[in-house]
Amino acid sequence: MSTLLITGAAGGVARRLIPALASAYSLRLTDRTPLPDAVTGDLRDAAFARDVCSGVDTIVHLAADANPNQPWSALREPNADAVVNVLEGAVAAKAGRVVLAGSLHALGGHVDAGAATIGEDAAPYPCCVYGSVKVFAETVGRWYAEEHGLHVVCLRLGGVRDRPMARSWLPGWLSGPDLVRLFTGALTADVRYGVYHGVSANSGGLWRHDRATAELGYRPVDDSARFAAEVPDDLSTGVGRTLHLT
Ligand SMILES: NC(=O)c1ccc[n+]([C@@H]2O[C@H](COP(=O)([O-])OP(=O)(O)OC[C@H]3O[C@@H](n4cnc5c(N)ncnc54)[C@H](O)[C@@H]3O)[C@@H](O)[C@H]2O)c1
Repeated sequence: MSTLLITGAAGGVARRLIPALASAYSLRLTDRTPLPDAVTGDLRDAAFARDVCSGVDTIVHLAADANPNQPWSALREPNADAVVNVLEGAVAAKAGRVVLAGSLHALGGHVDAGAATIGEDAAPYPCCVYGSVKVFAETVGRWYAEEHGLHVVCLRLGGVRDRPMARSWLPGWLSGPDLVRLFTGALTADVRYGVYHGVSANSGGLWRHDRATAELGYRPVDDSARFAAEVPDDLSTGVGRTLHLT
């Protein structure tokens, strides 16, 4: 059984993934927040990152400041430095694959500009510093894939919740079961490097995931439309601003 390191193991995304992956992998969990059966440490520390990556075959890197309203000063270390530390740790460990948690915020500017559909081939167009730093992670991941032969799979996640938080969340919602489908594909598909959208099968099709379907075999099932009548309206007038909801 291969060893899979999951960073950010105390977080909301990890909580939905870990039970589904536990039977297929020998899991090593880590977070800076203490958690039973996890290695406690901070991935801003390159030495810790190197140690915790040692001996693993695959890494799912989720640890980050996940608040899209944060400024650069808050994001630089956990969302940029830590990504490089983990990629360096992967190289040192001779891990085969790293899956990076990105965000639709990398393309939120297209939403503000009124795009009817946004595919994985759209140019990066962040709507915030958080989205910009996620684009950095994608591009530095590409360099590590080219330079070091790592397999690097970047997943631009939509809003991962049991149900959409508000009307603006309907197009970009990602259910827990679809999240598992997405990561299962990302962990097994024959991909050297790629950037993919992670959204459920939401009505309206604003966020396209054609590449995820073609290359990762990702076929989402859930549709946020079933919550449309019960979610609150947003007060925000700018769609990019509504993407900032956490
Ligand atoms: N939840 C979503 O809707 C969503 C949407 C798009 C992208 N993402 C991305 O998915 C990933 C996981 O998000 P989440 O919702 O689980 O976030 P979360 O805030 O629930 O969990 C993040 C975890 O990372 C840990 N962490 C943060 N900085 C760390 C560091 N320097 N060293 C070690 N651990 C650290 C935190 O302690 C926390 O447990 C993040 O990269 C986030 O940007 C999440």
